[in-house]
Amino acid sequence: MNGVRISGLGSAKPENLVSNTDLSKFVDTSDEWITTRTGIKSRYISSGETAVELAVDAAKVAISDANVNPSEIDLIIVATISPDQMMPSTACCVQSIIGAKNATAFDISAACSGFVFASKIAVDAIRIGSAKKALVIGAEILSKSIDWTDRNTCVLFGDGAGAVIYEKSDVNKIINIYTGSDGTLGQVLTLDHTPINNCLVTTDLSTSYLKMDGREVYKFATSVVPLCINKVLEGTDYSLSSIKKFILHQANERILNSVAKKLGIDDKLLFKNLFEYGNTSAASIPIALDDAKSSLCKGDIIILAGFGGGLTWGSILFEW
Ligand code: ACO
Repeated sequence: MNGVRISGLGSAKPENLVSNTDLSKFVDTSDEWITTRTGIKSRYISSGETAVELAVDAAKVAISDANVNPSEIDLIIVATISPDQMMPSTACCVQSIIGAKNATAFDISAACSGFVFASKIAVDAIRIGSAKKALVIGAEILSKSIDWTDRNTCVLFGDGAGAVIYEKSDVNKIINIYTGSDGTLGQVLTLDHTPINNCLVTTDLSTSYLKMDGREVYKFATSVVPLCINKVLEGTDYSLSSIKKFILHQANERILNSVAKKLGIDDKLLFKNLFEYGNTSAASIPIALDDAKSSLCKGDIIILAGFGGGLTWGSILFEW
């Protein structure tokens, strides 16, 4: 089996930063409510930037960081639940723009766990020798799938993209990846697609939006993230005390703090940038990793963990 390491990171965000106070001008909310319930102070919202544009911008930074030529990339996976279109895939659009002519490219859908799921596919492909250099991107323009009159959801989410280059390495740095799903709980977090509307069935085609049972999602997140963290450590030489930084899906500061409490770890070990970005779904973990990199030292043992719609969850244990 080949070793795998992360060789490049990048991220991109829309130009427009929307504060809680800005939001309170068109929906019945307040900076105080949003901050105390979620920790979020602002989010980047597209005023025209597309998922492909953000994915390409993040990819270009990661490619330059890894010092690879796009033609060396043999796998591109984009995790997204808000693609610009279903076909061609976001990954194929990225491939075309960056000139990664030797890559196999496709999208996956695993909501906020999408980056971890895509990373598992890419890392497994490198391990077994079917790829050498893989570009994994989380990219979302979730703002187009949000009901901007629904204060329960519109304050939580933002747009952005993050990208990682994984490559074959003599020394293995990706220690373990754990993933899981439970479709029986899927209805607590939903985002509908085009309904059946054909020569046999006529359907109301009005737009549908992301819907969430916030309390159920909260209960799920605070129980599954500690499980993800313990599972990814199982069978390895590492324990909670080995971990220098926990970079978790940036959904809600209360979820992060509850996870720290349940695990008995210092919450200073949690990386947080949700106050600036809000919840960017599949983009959240790679954006956070990119933002955290200046605080990481060579050899640090890191855990990434995500949870989201599906329901889905997953974690990555790696050495920086
Ligand atoms: N501003 C003001 N009031 C609001 C707002 C808002 N933005 N949103 C809801 N409220 C009101 C509700 O209408 C409700 O009022 P009511 O009691 O009169 O009906 C009340 O606030 C609800 O308040 P709480 O019960 O205190 O809310 P809670 O503590 O449950 O917090 C929250 C809500 C923040 C959504 C919480 O449930 C949560 O964090 N859930 C997890 C959400 C999440 O992380 N989702 C995404 C994860 S998966 C993914 O990333 C796709």
